[in-house]
Amino acid sequence: MFRVGYFQFRPLFGRVERNLNRVLAALSDVRADIVVLPELPFTGYYFATRDEVMALAEDPARSATVDSLARLCRQRDFYIVTGFAERRHEKAYNSSLLIGPQGLVHTYRKLHLFNTEKDYFDAGDTPLSVQELRGVKIGMMVCFDWAFPEVARTLALQGADILCHPANLVLGFCQQTMLTRCLENRLYAVTANRHGPDLRPHGELKFTGRSQVVAPGGKLLQRAPARRDLLHVVEIDPALARNKAITVRSDLIADRRPQFYGELAR
Ligand code: ACM
Repeated sequence: MFRVGYFQFRPLFGRVERNLNRVLAALSDVRADIVVLPELPFTGYYFATRDEVMALAEDPARSATVDSLARLCRQRDFYIVTGFAERRHEKAYNSSLLIGPQGLVHTYRKLHLFNTEKDYFDAGDTPLSVQELRGVKIGMMVCFDWAFPEVARTLALQGADILCHPANLVLGFCQQTMLTRCLENRLYAVTANRHGPDLRPHGELKFTGRSQVVAPGGKLLQRAPARRDLLHVVEIDPALARNKAITVRSDLIADRRPQFYGELAR
C-alpha cells in the first residue's frame, strides 16, 4: 500500500516565508509517501507583472524554500510534489517540483498557461515524463493542464500510476473532469488546490478548494471542503492503476487505434 495526500491551504500573496512556514508546520508530523501541495503555494498566484514574478521566483537549485522542504522530506521520509515559481536566468516558469529525502528530483514546467499567466510566465519546455519512487510511477501536471486530455493520456502511456496535480483553480470544471481523466486512463490523481482569494491592487481572484484524490475508474476517494485548510492522506493500492481493463475484453490502453487519430497522434 502507498500513502498519498494533499495539503490545501490559503497562501498569502508575496509572503514566501510565511507560506513556507505554514506548509512546514502542517506537514511536521505527516505519515505519507507523497504529499502534493497547490500551484505557486509560496509566492501566491495573482501576479500583476513579470517584474513581480522575477522578484519572487527562485532557482530550485539555489533555493532556501526547496532546501527546507527537502529537510522535512528527510525527517519524515517522504516526497513532496509542489507548485513553484521557477526562475532560470531570464526565464520564469510556473513549475512543479518533485522533492524527496535526497533533494530536488525533478522539475516540470507547466505546458498550458492559463489566461493572464501568459503575460508573466514563459510557457513550459520540459517534456512530460514519469518519475519512479518506491516502485510507483508518478506523473506531474499543473492546474490548467487538466483541460488538455493529452497530458494525462501521455503520462498514462508512459506508465504513470498517480497524477500529482498542484492547482490554483478558478473555474468550476476541473474537479469533475479529473474523475474522467482517471476513468479513461485508469490511474489515480491527487489534485491539490488552494482556497481563499488573492486580493491584489489590480483585482481579486477566488480559488475553489475542493482538493481531491481520485482512483482508477473515476472513483472519488476523498474531497476537501471549498474553504478550509486541510491535510489529508489516503492509502491506495498502486497496482490497481496497472489494470487498464474497463470490461473483460476492453483495455483502455491496449485497444487504442492511434493510426486513426490523425493530428492527435502526430
Ligand atoms: C490555473 O491554471 N491556475 C487555472
